[in-house]
Amino acid sequence: MAAFKETKFPADAPAAQKALGWVDDRFPLTKLWNDQWGKYYAPKNFNFWYIFGSLAMLVLVLQIVTGIFLTMHYKPDANLAFASVEYIMREVPAGWLVRYMHSTGASAFFIIIYLHMTRALLYGSYRKPRELIWLFGFAIFLCLMAEAFFGYLLPWGQMSYWGAQVIVNLFGAIPFIGPDLSLWIRGDYVVSDATLNRFFAFHVIAIPLVLLGLVAAHLIALHEVGSGNPDGIEVKENLGADGHPLDSIPSHPYYTVHDLFGVSVFLLIFSAVVFFAPEMGGYFLEYNNFLPGDSLKTPLHIAPTWYFTPFYSVLRATTADFMYVLMAAVAAYVVFVWLKSRLSSMVKTAFAAVALVAIVGMLPQVLDAKFWGVVFFGGSVVILAFLPWLDHSPVKSIRYRPHWHKYVYLVFGVSFLILGYLGTQAPTETKTMVSQVCTLIYFSFFLLMPWWSTMGKFKTVPDRVTFHPH
Ligand code: HEM
Repeated sequence: MAAFKETKFPADAPAAQKALGWVDDRFPLTKLWNDQWGKYYAPKNFNFWYIFGSLAMLVLVLQIVTGIFLTMHYKPDANLAFASVEYIMREVPAGWLVRYMHSTGASAFFIIIYLHMTRALLYGSYRKPRELIWLFGFAIFLCLMAEAFFGYLLPWGQMSYWGAQVIVNLFGAIPFIGPDLSLWIRGDYVVSDATLNRFFAFHVIAIPLVLLGLVAAHLIALHEVGSGNPDGIEVKENLGADGHPLDSIPSHPYYTVHDLFGVSVFLLIFSAVVFFAPEMGGYFLEYNNFLPGDSLKTPLHIAPTWYFTPFYSVLRATTADFMYVLMAAVAAYVVFVWLKSRLSSMVKTAFAAVALVAIVGMLPQVLDAKFWGVVFFGGSVVILAFLPWLDHSPVKSIRYRPHWHKYVYLVFGVSFLILGYLGTQAPTETKTMVSQVCTLIYFSFFLLMPWWSTMGKFKTVPDRVTFHPH
């Protein structure tokens, strides 16, 4: 074994420097800091879109810390849960603050993550070589949804109770195993104390552990390939004499200051919501959830929290009548792929065979619309994972794409928002029709992307990033 060599410092060196040296000889603290942040070189042209990764980390910490304090007073028992939350709100010193920070934090997390993903869409951040960063991000998104879903049952209000009932019942639509599967998830024939206990276990420990691991993987993958930027240029292709990319700057102090500014603005908005509008008109905390969960009283209108509603709308849009439109859409897509795709004829044949089976399965005599609703509901989330392989554009950033691509993104974004809004509303015939049109737009955006993303006149991507010092 090599001899252990301790770093020598002059006798008058500051005590802090000596202490750090002592630690560094035994643990790579300075190295870790420099690799991950201090000397991590990032493109110098980041704009405000690049703040949301850091904000997501901040909110993750905020949720964990406030969650720990809530857990100290919360009782995961169907007879006590609702009252324990009221106790936190009224009796525990600053309990109301911790609870509002946690509930507002959940919505803030999703706002930040949706903006973080929008940035990826605009600048093609998921393109080669960042596919794995995207896939880890996608897994994080799934975990966040699970975390929010499990957490929502804990206050044991009417919406908690009936929301969980509706979503767990969805699994019942799966042929053969469905009813047993939903029974297994619930641990009972209805949502009950057994369900509350397992959801609590998932919410406070299982999912957060996975989430932390995934965030670590997300950042390790990011620091392996290096950050993208709004121009979609690989800065590592232009190295300076010191071996660092010419268009990059060390994260510290430059992005430390940049991120601290973003954090300050975020905390201002966040505090304003926590102190003045924690319910946010029923969007962050639903009014029905101020009533204790009652298995004998179904609320008139059950809707999930706003961050799930775009996908929930897709589920509700899948009515029995709409199945015929979907069957026609699948058939048209097969013909389109057959004529336009450069895939081998074997792959095309396999694709057509799968589509044919799906079309037959869509017949009302075979599998009902409820089942397909669950499939499209899941599909509308899972399709995001395929983005790196659906986008064939020769450039990454929207800046150098044909002008009309911006309208494609706009139509997609507006449809997503409409789906989100409609998911919060009680369905009517017109609203269902609008959500059906938006569902078609949503899926077309992704499924036709291999074609539309290559069409039009692309601008020349410069060799160096565009940067205007301010
Ligand atoms: C807890 C949740 C998350 C945290 C803490 C997080 C953190 C970060 C951080 C700190 C960065 C670097 C700074 C930045 O580019 O903003 C980053 C980059 C990135 N994230 Fe996330 N992220 C999270 C979730 C997601 C999700 C859900 C996705 C997508 C599905 C995603 C996709 C990406 C991509 C593609 C990049 C690379 C951007 C580039 O270099 O151009 N992230 N993330």
